[in-house]
This record gives sequence, C-alpha cells and structure tokens, in this order.
Amino acid sequence: MKNKSVKIGPNTLCPCGSGKKYKNCCRNKKIEVSIKEEYKRRYDIHLKDPDQIQGIRKCGDLLISILNKVEQMIKPGLKTDDINTFVHEETIKAGAVPAPLHYKGFPKSVCVSVNDVICHGIPGDRVLTDGDIVNVDITPILDGYYADASKTFFVGTPTEQGKKIVSVASESLKRGIEVMAPGVTLGDIGYAIQSYAESQGCSVVREFVGHGVGIDFHEQPQVLHFGTRGKGIPLAPGMVITIEPMINLGKRDLHVLEDRWTAVTNDGSLSAQFEQTLLVTETGWESLTPYAL
Ligand code: MF3
Ligand code: CO
Ligand code: CO
Repeated sequence: MKNKSVKIGPNTLCPCGSGKKYKNCCRNKKIEVSIKEEYKRRYDIHLKDPDQIQGIRKCGDLLISILNKVEQMIKPGLKTDDINTFVHEETIKAGAVPAPLHYKGFPKSVCVSVNDVICHGIPGDRVLTDGDIVNVDITPILDGYYADASKTFFVGTPTEQGKKIVSVASESLKRGIEVMAPGVTLGDIGYAIQSYAESQGCSVVREFVGHGVGIDFHEQPQVLHFGTRGKGIPLAPGMVITIEPMINLGKRDLHVLEDRWTAVTNDGSLSAQFEQTLLVTETGWESLTPYAL
C-alpha cells in the first residue's frame, strides 16, 4: 500500500506554523534538544553547548602552552618533581587549578610516567637519564572547565626501542582521532587503535581508558582503546572525549605499585602514551588540546 502521509522535507514549510522552512526551524531545535536529552538519559553523556566548548578550548590552550614549555625543560638530570613544581606554578599563575592534586588522593599536580611506567607516575626524586622516555599528563581546571592531554618525550638521545614505542603510541592516537565523526562508534575508535598497534607487534593496555571530559575530570563515556567496528555508542556533535592509548612494547599485563597509583608493565617493557581532548563536530572532530602527531 502507498503511504499517503506527506513527507516533511528540509525545504517544506515548518509544521509549527512559523512560516520558516523546516530545516531552519523545528528540525534543528527538536533534534538538538532531543539528542542532548537522549544521550544524557541513555548514556549519562553530557553533550556540550558552544559556551562550554569555548571554555574547554581555552583550558586546552593553556594546557598546551604548559606542555610545550615542559618539553623544553626535558633533559638528563631533571628530577620528575621539577616537572611537578613547574606545572603546578604555571597552572596557578594562569588562574587555573591542577586537577590531579588530591584527586582521589593523588599527591601531586601532574602525572609523570617514565619508561615501563604506563600511567599515573607520581613525581618525586627520580632523575631522568639519557635514553629514558617520559610521559607528562596535564589537566588544568580553568573557569571550571577541564582539558586533559599528555605527550611522551625523549630524554637526551632516544634508544631504538624508545623510538619504536613512542612512534607507535603517537600514531595510535592519530588513527583513533582520524576516524571520529558523528555516527562513528566508540568501537570504531578502539578498533582503529588496536588493529594498528597490534599490527606493529605492540600491545594495548586494557585497564585504563579514555573518557568524557570538560565539566568534570572523568565523565561518561569510557573510551576503550580496543574494540570491534560498529559496536558501542555512536558519536554525536558536542561530545567531548579523551583518546589516550597506552601502548606497550611487550605484553599488555600490568600491576600497580604499593603507592596504589603507579602502573607498570609486568614484563618491564617500555610503555608510551599520547592523549588529547577531542570534540565531535558536525563534520568530524576538533582537538581542544591540539598538537601535531
Ligand atoms: N590525566 C589522567 C587521565 O588521562 C588521570 C590522572 S588521575 C590522577 O585520565 F589522579 F592520577 F591525576
Ligand atoms: Co584522560
Ligand atoms: Co590525562
């Protein structure tokens, strides 16, 4: 049987009687509002509005300016606690607050993870030495908005193993980012990362994941760095998430030290990580903590 109902197209007059075209009227409003409510209800995901995005972007710009200065400091002989002091002071100077400090009992203002430390390294008396790799993970809170990003740096002259794992981790983040667009699923992101990293003979850490971010440090959804194409929540414009793959040169298994934070590889192999805060746009993505990968 033929469907006799009149199809409302983008250019037909809006049924609300405004006299505007449907595409310029209720189509936008209704869908925007209903998607926002639907993501909150179904997934507890907070889609961000333009003002919130601007706030996170500004926090991200501060983060990247600090991260760039940290990069200039990195050299053999530097203590990991010197990085903490610097990040703490730069954050406060900018009128921001370091989110890691006292977060669930974390004692410092930044995570500094050397060599086989996967993540959540606590800055202290450890001295960086030639050939080390070191991840610095920064999260300022500026005007109530959070941005979260990290990079892994070489200390002095990189080793062959260091070059390999840093390159694979950086490319893993890049591949995860570049699939992002509305309708693409979280599983698609995980698949892009896992299939690449494993094709290079490396492994993907499963115990720590990316996350929604912006209004809070860790929001829904969880962003796994492994997965199956087409599975999981579809991305929607206004979603702000981190992608932060931790990639090991050896096996993925890990343990957490007595300090209850420091996660290290069981086999002692090197681990590298790159993280950015990413916005899903109408057409794809925008990094709110942009740096070249
Ligand atoms: N910055 C980390 C992340 O990417 C979280 C660190 S939690 C802390 O999610 F307490 F260790 F700072
Ligand atoms: Co994060
Ligand atoms: Co982080």
